[in-house]
Amino acid sequence: EHAEATAPSTAQVLVASNRGPITYTLGEDGTLDAKRGGGGLVSGLSAVDDKLWVCAALGDGDREAVRRGVGEPGVRMLDIDAEVHADAYNGIANSVLWFVHHLLYQTPVEPVFDAEFRRQWASYETYNRAFAQALAEEAGEGAAVLVQDYHLALVPGMLRELRPDLRIGHFSHTPWAPVDYFRLLPDDIGEQLLRGILGADRAAFLTRRWADAFIGCCTEILGGTGRTRIGVHGLGADADFLRRRSREADVDERMAALREQVGENRKTIVRVDRTELSKNIVRGLHAYRALLEAHPEWRERVVHVAFAYPSRQDLAVYRDYTAAVQSLATEINGAYGTESWTPVVLHVKDDFARSLAAYRLADVALVNPIRDGMNLVAKEVPVVSDHGCALVLSREAGAYEELGEDAIVVNPYDVTGTAEALHEALSMGAEERTGRTKRLAEAATALPPQRWFLDQLEALRQE
Ligand code: G6P
Repeated sequence: EHAEATAPSTAQVLVASNRGPITYTLGEDGTLDAKRGGGGLVSGLSAVDDKLWVCAALGDGDREAVRRGVGEPGVRMLDIDAEVHADAYNGIANSVLWFVHHLLYQTPVEPVFDAEFRRQWASYETYNRAFAQALAEEAGEGAAVLVQDYHLALVPGMLRELRPDLRIGHFSHTPWAPVDYFRLLPDDIGEQLLRGILGADRAAFLTRRWADAFIGCCTEILGGTGRTRIGVHGLGADADFLRRRSREADVDERMAALREQVGENRKTIVRVDRTELSKNIVRGLHAYRALLEAHPEWRERVVHVAFAYPSRQDLAVYRDYTAAVQSLATEINGAYGTESWTPVVLHVKDDFARSLAAYRLADVALVNPIRDGMNLVAKEVPVVSDHGCALVLSREAGAYEELGEDAIVVNPYDVTGTAEALHEALSMGAEERTGRTKRLAEAATALPPQRWFLDQLEALRQE
């Protein structure tokens, strides 16, 4: 691996994450097709020179690209053994750590930490070590290394041992579990995770709440956070990009198509999510049905436009959840739909232009996660909205800390309460809606991705 490692290591800013900025797909005829990803980190990094992004090869296409030496400057993909990666990513990161930080377990029956879990944990260590070694090889003297998320919690500690000269940061894009819930993890594993992140000079989070939860775990379990500084950087929406992109022709086309599906003189309740258990899409549909029951005046006059894009489909729980969303949407349409009205329009094929079209069109946006590190949909909708959009927002989303005042806030478990919030949002007068949307957009764009990243870099280099 990385046979051409002859040039001296010079990168001064390194970023490490499981998912990188580019994905390759392998065609039947053997051609490799590169697709650039979006997201806060991609735009955040665009302002930084002399950087290297270290990420994992995620599928056959990525692996083939590494083998052929195809790539792009500034990105190094690690071809970690496919089974090791699957254990670490599917087994530990997305089944255990994601579930712990988002409080997703049905605790009477799960989790079960047995020999299979220990085997997967060993893979998680191997996978983290591969990142630490690659970063140690690539980083120039005294470079800043920004390690991302729960996939790579052990990297800061491992990297510090290899390269004490580096400035190491860790950033969590998820919530952090409260200590009583974190303690579901076997004691030695919990300690290893905390010590791994505390190997960084600075550990940062999206909100004060998640930072405090992390400090709480460190204090109770280890007696403190040691020499590691703790920071908060609330990633905002990329206003310039969104305003420009949402006015392009393909978005206009999709707006026309959506208008057709919704029908004349109807309001829309829009949601856009990866189909993922923390997003609470099923309860959102229950709340919509409860709205149609409690306020039948909305029948024929509203359409729930729900985009639920497939995510982590290697895992049965995510596939089952996708199926549950689809069958509930079908059930609601069967129970309430008429010749001329489809109550739920569900789309599952990922299409960014169509998401933007829905943002522009929305009268109400429903963002009701059980728990969410930030939730950028809540921040993007007000920026893009054509005529003002009422936001129904879970108090358990990180975005609540910044947007709570002008949103209609819900407890995500309270279906009746969410139905009433939808009613209130649909009934909001145009003037109030426009005023709130303007204030929401201001709050949502306070820390654009580039600033968000540079702030972290500056804070890491201080002292
Ligand atoms: C969350 C995580 C990210 C992750 C993203 C998409 O936002 O914090 O680290 O990349 O979900 O999930 P995926 O498993 O497809 O990378």
